[in-house]
Amino acid sequence: MIILSHELPADWISSITDKYETIMGPSTLESAGLTPELQAALPNANGLLTMLTVRVDETLLSAAPNLKIVSQMAVGVDNIDLAACSARGIPVGHTPGVLTDATADVTLTLLLATSRRVIETAADAREGRWGTWNPTQWLGSDLAGQTLGIVGMGAIGQATARRAKAFGMNIVYHSRSSYPEAEKELSAEKVPFRQLLAQSDFVSLHTPLTAETKHLIDADAFSAMKPSAILINTARGGVVDQDALVNALRNREIRAAGLDVTTPEPLPTYHPLFQMPNCLILPHIGSATERTRRKMAQLGCENLLLGLEGKPLKHQAN
Ligand code: DGY
Repeated sequence: MIILSHELPADWISSITDKYETIMGPSTLESAGLTPELQAALPNANGLLTMLTVRVDETLLSAAPNLKIVSQMAVGVDNIDLAACSARGIPVGHTPGVLTDATADVTLTLLLATSRRVIETAADAREGRWGTWNPTQWLGSDLAGQTLGIVGMGAIGQATARRAKAFGMNIVYHSRSSYPEAEKELSAEKVPFRQLLAQSDFVSLHTPLTAETKHLIDADAFSAMKPSAILINTARGGVVDQDALVNALRNREIRAAGLDVTTPEPLPTYHPLFQMPNCLILPHIGSATERTRRKMAQLGCENLLLGLEGKPLKHQAN
């Protein structure tokens, strides 16, 4: 039997529902765990297709002794205890590649919207604060000629850099690996992390959330950034120390932030970041296009079927 943590459209998941008995949760989960009904089904589950809001940890795994595969419908797997899965011989599938363009598009959306103050100025227009054309009002920053610092030059970092290059930006990056091809194609330069912070007009985060990257952007990092810099995060909220971000925005240590991810998600509406005109927050929509989500579900199903058959997965995270 297969458990799907969330409800998905029937034609996205027919490759598993045609073959296996399947039970699904609702499309929105109230908490970070499976519903009580799905939890009760864990002892009989052979496969779990799950999403980034579900904690797959020792407690869940020990309730599911027959589990052969955990397949995550996302590229990030920070909600999953990979070591615990490996210790039980359970492969963990994930879905890199299919959401690269959609996520890079949202990164550019945030870059453009924050640099040109789109939300703030649109609200001014709508709410009657639009006087005659004013040469010094609503000034933002250009993209052309500015430096974009990419932290994490994997597929999404590179797709973002490619788009930014088309806008005339200069690219620097910091990553564990080097990417000579991308350096050539994008005239990008790999630089040490501190140099990236000091040099960039925009800092865009594309690194997975791990023990090493948790709070990578902290008070110290903000103090190294230009006061005119804009921070963009479409990776994971935990890569940024959010209290330090509130202070940095309040004290004008940086100019603005564009976030598609926060801690927690959803971010409560009373959170100080929502009160700041120089902070734009989206509700984790990086991969939210019909085509992309369908591909993610199909790749998630493919990994799940391969895992059930004991075959190598298309993309395995552990
Ligand atoms: C992922 O795949 O990790 C994304 O955050 C989902 O949009």
